[in-house]
Amino acid sequence: MTVPVYDKQHPFLASIKERYWLSNPGSQRQTYHVVLDLKGSGLQYHVGDSIAIYPINVPSVVDRTIEAMKADPNTTVTDKQGVALYSLHEYISRKANIGDISRKLVTEIAHRQPVPGKKEYLEGLLQENNREAFKAYVEVHQLWDLLVANKEVTFTPQEVINLLMPLLPRFYSIASSQKVVGDEVHLTVSRLHYISNEQERFGVCTYYICSLAPMGIPDIPIYIQPHHGFTLPSDPSVDIIMVGPGTGVAPFRAFMQERVAVLGTGRNWLFFGEWRHDFDYFYQDYWENLEAEGHLKINTAFSRDQEHKIYVQNRMWDERESLYQWLENGAILYVCGDAHRMAKDVDAMLHRIIETCGNKSEREAKDYMKALRSSKRYLRDVY
Ligand SMILES: Cc1cc2nc3c(=O)[nH]c(=O)nc-3n(C[C@H](O)[C@H](O)[C@H](O)COP(=O)(O)OP(=O)(O)OC[C@H]3O[C@@H](n4cnc5c(N)ncnc54)[C@H](O)[C@@H]3O)c2cc1C
Ligand SMILES: NC(=O)c1ccc[n+]([C@@H]2O[C@H](COP(=O)([O-])OP(=O)(O)OC[C@H]3O[C@@H](n4cnc5c(N)ncnc54)[C@H](OP(=O)(O)O)[C@@H]3O)[C@@H](O)[C@H]2O)c1
Repeated sequence: MTVPVYDKQHPFLASIKERYWLSNPGSQRQTYHVVLDLKGSGLQYHVGDSIAIYPINVPSVVDRTIEAMKADPNTTVTDKQGVALYSLHEYISRKANIGDISRKLVTEIAHRQPVPGKKEYLEGLLQENNREAFKAYVEVHQLWDLLVANKEVTFTPQEVINLLMPLLPRFYSIASSQKVVGDEVHLTVSRLHYISNEQERFGVCTYYICSLAPMGIPDIPIYIQPHHGFTLPSDPSVDIIMVGPGTGVAPFRAFMQERVAVLGTGRNWLFFGEWRHDFDYFYQDYWENLEAEGHLKINTAFSRDQEHKIYVQNRMWDERESLYQWLENGAILYVCGDAHRMAKDVDAMLHRIIETCGNKSEREAKDYMKALRSSKRYLRDVY
């Protein structure tokens, strides 16, 4: 019997086995624990891997988009290659990126816009020296608001489709060890929700996984995205330090499940951060049980429990002498989560700790960090 191979081109259709809010009632965070069922797939994963999920667009946005196209949702269209047939509704729901606007689309709308003021405005945005204004414009517009703002422009549904980018899969760090959960994969997903251009917006995939996808229906296209070195050391006696605020904690739940399962003797240290201790301490019982059993040292930073911000890097600073000793002793340091601010600030703090506790010059601290990186003892998975 041949075992099917599931990949980017041939995703496995998983179902949601379990889904629950990770915060306590009263929290303003919308982070969920999601368990996908892999039964029958034969899929194997390792700690540090991610799952790629092909989402479905938010139904209300799909409806608005088709309305803005002034088209019949049952119209038949083809993909860009002209190969496969779809109803317009299906294509817009499952295949098209209707959240991001390309230069190509704005250029075509500008070209067809008959109203001089609107045409000049779009042409101005497309000027080479106006890249920042273009970026700001596309950040607050989706396809439907662009079409509504340019309602004088007419397209056939197929012409619009030919101008759209594909709906790409999103990645989620695996929050479980297969040694422990078998045919399941656990995820920690933060549902994105914000206001832009005076409109309420949801993140496509997080809305799909946390709210839209029904439980128990094998309809969620997924594949495994293997890690590129962000995993546990093969030697279970090596110490590990994990820095994972917010959803960045996901892979460390997997790491800890695996470390306990393989009876690792190395020490484990987690820095976790979220908004508020009483509401947003994700997996609190799990971490505290591990701590009570002597498997884990944990430091937490709750940013909104007091007037001033306390972040994971502040806790690293509080613990600097000990943290530096762990590094000197050969520990691997992992960072996972937000790339825009957190990972940069944690990096700067690490540099400061090495400089201070190692009594090093700025250059020496840089070299120390470089050596950590090249020996794969400073590993990051940030997004
Ligand atoms: C390797 C890897 C692992 C990851 N692991 C996880 C994980 O474990 N858990 C997790 O939740 N996510 C994780 N992510 C992030 C995840 O892949 C998605 O990017 C995230 O869930 C958002 O996807 P979405 O489809 O819901 O949002 P999208 O529809 O793609 O929207 C995202 C876009 O919304 C816009 N946006 C967001 N916030 C605002 C705002 N306040 N104002 C204006 N615009 C805004 C930005 O343009 C942003 O690019 C990971 C990413 C990578 C690369
Ligand atoms: N586009 C952006 O600017 C931006 C920023 C953050 C997150 N995100 C994305 O939002 C999604 C969800 O994020 P998440 O749920 O993982 O949580 P998160 O928004 O990263 O927040 C987790 C914790 O990190 C804190 N934090 C904020 N800035 C920090 C910094 N510079 N250094 C250390 N900690 C910091 C937050 O505090 P406070 O919120 O109280 O400051 C919070 O307590 C992710 O996909 C992430 O990439 C995007």
